[in-house]
Amino acid sequence: DAVERGEYRHYMQKEIFEQPRAVANTLEARIGAGGVLPNVFGIGGDELLAKVKGVHIIACGTSYHAGMVAKYWIEEYARLPVSVEVASEYRYREAVVPEGTLFIAISQSGETADTLAAMRESRRRGYLGTLAICNVPESSAVREADLKLMTRAGPEIGVASTKAFTTQLAALALLTLHLAKQQGLDSARYNDLCAQLHRLPRAIDEALKLEPQIIELAASFIPRHHALFLGRGAHFPVALEGSLKLKEISYIHAEAYPAGELKHGPLALVDEDMPVVAVAPNGPLLDKLKSNLQEVRARGGELIVFADSAAHIDGGATRGSILRIDAGGDFIAPAVFTVPLQLLAYHVAVLRGTDVDQPRNLAKSVTVE
Ligand code: G6P
Repeated sequence: DAVERGEYRHYMQKEIFEQPRAVANTLEARIGAGGVLPNVFGIGGDELLAKVKGVHIIACGTSYHAGMVAKYWIEEYARLPVSVEVASEYRYREAVVPEGTLFIAISQSGETADTLAAMRESRRRGYLGTLAICNVPESSAVREADLKLMTRAGPEIGVASTKAFTTQLAALALLTLHLAKQQGLDSARYNDLCAQLHRLPRAIDEALKLEPQIIELAASFIPRHHALFLGRGAHFPVALEGSLKLKEISYIHAEAYPAGELKHGPLALVDEDMPVVAVAPNGPLLDKLKSNLQEVRARGGELIVFADSAAHIDGGATRGSILRIDAGGDFIAPAVFTVPLQLLAYHVAVLRGTDVDQPRNLAKSVTVE
């Protein structure tokens, strides 16, 4: 055990720090100077994808959050309609499947019972085909799918998923680019997105350097019972993933909201005992987010803001902190901003003395319904 964990205290920490390499491996030989290479989705993949008119994504847990990010990406850049649903819901309802819809299952293990059942159910619902985005080549999901795109995260031991998530985002970014090009995205924008994706491993590496600051921050969470995470746009799923990490391993109740929904309920909970973690990348929604944060400040809430180094956001808070991150671009920002949230959950859990790699009541792979 100790040998495999090397210098790290837990597998989760090791896996967080493996992300630059895992993401680079997932991109390797799949994207070149001119963009996404042919046939990265398997034999016949490009022909099948050329017929796609829409996408349904099905997954559970962290993989579901990756799917939610992909919805923002594919709709924005490829202009194809995308729906994302948790597998346990999808399998028991009569989803409408428009002609030309691609079914995508995202699963680290490829053995999650609900996801496999949803895949099998999809067979009788008339999809164009199925694509599995998965980390285990010999898994059931990969065997049963028409097309596959393997994440190359390597074995993930920590129950709380980290490198599997960011490599899923890398794989979904490749799919987004493939579909975007096919759907006629402007070539200058396409080249910019490709350049951003090339930068992703380095951007994650930079984000990991925030660890000492995050350790300091984590201390203030030790006595907390609740925390709220906020994000907007493609960073709403990032907020969801950050809150999931915190609750899974530190047992602090955490919820995530799209920041615009704050005033429709969660604001009632905000007081000096409720830390509010905000993901604040640069972009058109930044001003909106800032006014949401002002609502938190006005109620004495403690704000922890993860801000893009290019974003104009000031402290202004009586309590709280701002951490600056170089997101490396709007497209890849969700993957980069995930990293400090993983580190925050990890260090809070360590300080609270929980069993970080094997949180109570949870399993790495849920193979029963
Ligand atoms: C379990 C794990 C999660 C994971 C989810 C889906 O709940 O604890 O970390 O996200 O299953 O697993 P999958 O292997 O399908 O991605």
